[in-house]
This record gives sequence, structure tokens and C-alpha cells, in this order.
Amino acid sequence: MSKHKELIIGMFGFGVVGEGLYKVLQQTPSLKARIKKVCIKHPDKKRSAPSELFTTDKDEILNDKEINVVVEVIDDANAAFEIVKTALKNKKEAVSSSKKMIAEHLQELLDLQQKTGRSFLYESSACASIPVIRNLEEYYDNDLLHSIRAYCNGSTNFILTKMFDENLGFKEALLLAQQLGFAESNPKLDVEGFDAVNKWTLLLNHAYGIVTSPDTILFNGIQNVTKSDAAVAKSRGQQIKLVAQAKKLVLGGVGAFVLPQFVTAESPLAFVKNEYNGVVIESGFADQQFFYGKGAGSFPTASAVLSDISALRYGYKYEYKKLYHHTPHVINDDIYLKVYVSFNQLSDIPKEDFEWIEQWHAQEDRKYLSGVIALKKLKEGSWWKENGTSLILEPDPIIENIEERRLKKKSLELAGLH
Ligand code: HSE
Repeated sequence: MSKHKELIIGMFGFGVVGEGLYKVLQQTPSLKARIKKVCIKHPDKKRSAPSELFTTDKDEILNDKEINVVVEVIDDANAAFEIVKTALKNKKEAVSSSKKMIAEHLQELLDLQQKTGRSFLYESSACASIPVIRNLEEYYDNDLLHSIRAYCNGSTNFILTKMFDENLGFKEALLLAQQLGFAESNPKLDVEGFDAVNKWTLLLNHAYGIVTSPDTILFNGIQNVTKSDAAVAKSRGQQIKLVAQAKKLVLGGVGAFVLPQFVTAESPLAFVKNEYNGVVIESGFADQQFFYGKGAGSFPTASAVLSDISALRYGYKYEYKKLYHHTPHVINDDIYLKVYVSFNQLSDIPKEDFEWIEQWHAQEDRKYLSGVIALKKLKEGSWWKENGTSLILEPDPIIENIEERRLKKKSLELAGLH
């Protein structure tokens, strides 16, 4: 797209993000971007824009030769994919915020971008206002990117904050997250970790060149976290949060998962509350870096969409450097995890699946243990999400050198120190 061309936008969706973008664009005339048409599903809804702006016919946008940018901010992943696919094929640039769609169609979308040569940008789809995709894409060499840890779902952070810092009940906190426009229309996607793992899938591509689908990544949400888990966290001076994590392994590949985790008071993530997201990056020479910003909500998400639109003015495209210009990584599930598990009945816990169990707290009302288990064992079974069982990772949970750890543990036991 030439430098000074006006951006004529056709937008799909006028919900929390779409309306936010409409307002934000009105306040940024310097961008030289104009929304020509907005395609919506329910024409009878009252909206804060002139009625002639709206249509229910997608082709009015997709076949309009004057429209050179299609912005898609709907929450139907299948329809979103069709829109983006047609837009790119019709030689339009595309901007999307549909993390589920992008995560589920990653390979096809990569192929489409290569084939059509068009830009497809989606900064708003992960961590909303934090420019995490462009930073991963532009700044870090994959060899130097040791690890990333993030809160990438605003609603779960909001709910956990309200429940454990402000004593609200789960339902009340969720309702508030919905009212404020943070939650997905199906809030199960937030609460049970689907939204976070979708975002993690697409971020792993920009971080490490990994092309995978969300169902290959070990994940869970916060649905099983109990008040007694929060009390254990408090007694340790920690908090429980939904943490997406990826780490380059010494044994090759990348360990990746999205699970509730204890977060220590020293972690930069300890300060990230409510709908805010945070990303901690450990890299070769820079050491630790921390990104912080609103991870959900109308204007924070619209601001990232706006930034993508603005980037189109200078022809910006993701180059997928880690995928195309480096040797891409793959996910390596051959790791062990330090876990805390609280449960109702001992019979719900397959003790034989653990490498070792360090502590039993079987006398408490709510029983719990801490131990080490292979990530693969968790992938094989689902006991750890059933019968009210709650699995939470310990801080710094990854063990790679299990043999060495076993030997060390044995020698400590022999010396009577363990
Ligand atoms: N439901 C999402 C969240 C919205 O809570 O993070 C932003 O992607």
C-alpha cells in the first residue's frame, strides 16, 4: 500500500471493540483513515453511529473496490476466518482481533499471507493494549529469547483480583467482568483457559516460530481454584494467577503451557491486577524485561487495532522472522513440573503418576500435596481438572534434568536432610 494513500476501512462487528475503534478513529483525524461501512448481524440494535454506515451484507465490504482495509472485530471464529480469507484474496489488507480464529487457522493464514502478499495484522488479539506481537516479531532474536511468562487474559486476572484481594464471590466478579466488556460472550472461554491458550498459540509463533494449534498445548483455567488455595498462597506471601509460560529448553525445543500458578511477591507480575496483563521476557543480554498494560476492554483493544491500521500506512507486514529466517522451534513436552494439588479425596489422586511427592497436607479440611509430575502425564489424563481437584504450578515450575534431581533428592534423603 502506498505511503500516502487514504485508508478506506470496511469493518465487521460493532461490539465492544468495534464501537471503541469507531470513536477512537473520530479522535485521530491525522491517521487519514475513514470507516466507509460496518457490517453487523443485528440491524435493529440501537447504535451510536449514523444508520447509513451499517449493512448486513458482507459483500458490500468485501467486493467494494474502494475499501482497501478490512477490520474484523467479531467473535464468531468461523465467520472471521472467511472474512479475512476473502479480504486477503480480494487484495485488501486485513486487521483482526479474533485470537481464536488466528490460533485455529495459523498455518492457513500464514499460507494466505505468503500467497497474496497482503498484510494481515492482529496486535489487539493478544494482551490488547500491550504491543507484544510487534515486540516479539521485531526485537528479539529467537536464540536470545530464553523465556516468556504472561497474564494474557484480562478477565481471569480481574476475577482473581476481585475474589482474593477484595473478597467478592466468583459469580459476582464474573458478572462485573462481563458488564465492563472484558469477558468473551461465552465467558467459559476466559474462565477455563481457552482464550489464554489461543493467545499463547499465536504468540509462540512470533516468539519462537512455533506453528501449532491450541489443542496441543497443556492448559487449564481458574475454574477449580478454591478459597483454600488462595489461603495457602497468602500464607506463603504469594498469589494465584493464570500464567502462560514458554521456555527454551537446554534439551532442545520449547516447553509451553497455560496453567494457574503461584506468583511470588518478587515477580513483576505480582503487581498486575484487575484487567491488566503483564509479560515478562527473559533474554540473553537484556536479562529481564516487563511489559504492562490493559489486556481487555473497549479502548485498550481499539488502541491496538488503531496501531495496526496506522502501521498499514507504511506497508507494515509481519515477517514471521523466527519461522522463515531462523530454524523454527518446536514444542518439547519432555519436561517435569513442580505442582501443588488440592483435592477432596485421596482416591482422586493417581499417586503413581508422580515422580515424587514432597509434602502431604492430608489433615486439613481441604487436603493438598506438592510434588513433581511429567507434563506428559498431565496431558494423558484429566484427573487434575475433575472432582473439584485443583492443580496449581509452583513458581519456576519447569524441571528438565529429572535424573540429576532424582539423584540429588536421594542423596539428601540418605543424609537424613530431606
Ligand atoms: N476476554 C478477553 C480477556 C478479552 O479477558 O482477556 C481480550 O482479549
